[in-house]
Amino acid sequence: MAAEDIGIDLGTSNVLIYERGKGVTCNEPAVVALERESRSIRAIGEEAYKMIGRTPANIVAMRPLRDGMVADFELTSSMLHYFVVQTIGKHMFSRPRAVLSLPSGINEMEKRSITAIMFEAGVRRTQLLDRPVAAAIGAGLNINDAYGSMIVDIGAGMTDVAVLSLGRMAVSRAHKLGGDHFDEAIIRYLRRKHNLLIGERTAEELKINIGSAMPRSEQLYTEVTGRNLISGLPKLMRITSDEIHEAIDEPLTALIEAIHGALEETPAELAADVFDSGIVLSGGGAQLPGLSEAISTALNVNCRVADHPQTCVAVGCGLTLENMSEFGRYLNDGRKHN
Ligand SMILES: Nc1ncnc2c1ncn2[C@@H]1O[C@H](COP(=O)(O)OP(=O)(O)OP(=O)(O)O)[C@@H](O)[C@H]1O
Ligand SMILES: [Mg+2]
Repeated sequence: MAAEDIGIDLGTSNVLIYERGKGVTCNEPAVVALERESRSIRAIGEEAYKMIGRTPANIVAMRPLRDGMVADFELTSSMLHYFVVQTIGKHMFSRPRAVLSLPSGINEMEKRSITAIMFEAGVRRTQLLDRPVAAAIGAGLNINDAYGSMIVDIGAGMTDVAVLSLGRMAVSRAHKLGGDHFDEAIIRYLRRKHNLLIGERTAEELKINIGSAMPRSEQLYTEVTGRNLISGLPKLMRITSDEIHEAIDEPLTALIEAIHGALEETPAELAADVFDSGIVLSGGGAQLPGLSEAISTALNVNCRVADHPQTCVAVGCGLTLENMSEFGRYLNDGRKHN
């Protein structure tokens, strides 16, 4: 691996880049702020994220990827190009290689265009790695063994559920279900229960600050400002952790159902391995307190959250480049330039 080779997790809410010898050096929101009329880009990443819901009328801050799909290809390309150039700088002589993990809803044409954009950004060769495989490698699972391991990667827009053995996916399912759906459930709940309208960012903050997949032994509170839908005026309200627990019941049940369904489809021998060694969770959504416990309780299988779950996919891409003899065979052909 050349010094500059990189592993990239192009997620629908965050873009992470792993650099050899350095680890994850870029971890930025997948957000672009642009001028409404001219569509010229004003900010990308963290700076653009801060603008969500707070932009003046002429600027719009948006996520070019949504629900595991490309919502705006041009903006996705500009954003990826920007992060890659920022990370690798300009290389006159030695262009680095990259291993890239993409949302599952990206089609073949978009994949080819994305590898072309990587080339323009200065990458010599881009190869693709399936997201569950990347997550499993990043989580430190022994995917080369003839032994079934289950990885559940819970992102913002998608959850990938897979059982791997001998590096292959014996079962692999991508569900349009992730942290965004938990946020949306909170928005719906507060609107229904309190006639209070809150924004996406506030909902995400509520989930992260007081959300839990299991009832908390000690009740937590937080205050949020939203718009009272009856008076139309801003209103400050105290929200409890029990309310957020109740609010996320629907997506949580769907998540557990998705894992249950994958277990049912898993061949008996591999399912026995999973029951033996447990389920591993990765992705930012895995950080919801009590989630592994809720899954264990519902399915009667051990479940644990990987160390540093949000970086597993990017780390898995980077480790693949660093250990080509071990993991190189799992790479899909990207288009080779030069
Ligand atoms: N402490 C936390 N508790 C609950 N959810 C969290 C926490 N921290 C982050 N999240 C959620 O994790 C999600 C982002 O995770 P991640 O960065 O893995 O997504 P992504 O890879 O961009 O999305 P996808 O894989 O769907 O393309 C967001 O929905 C965010 O709200
Ligand atoms: Mg992801």
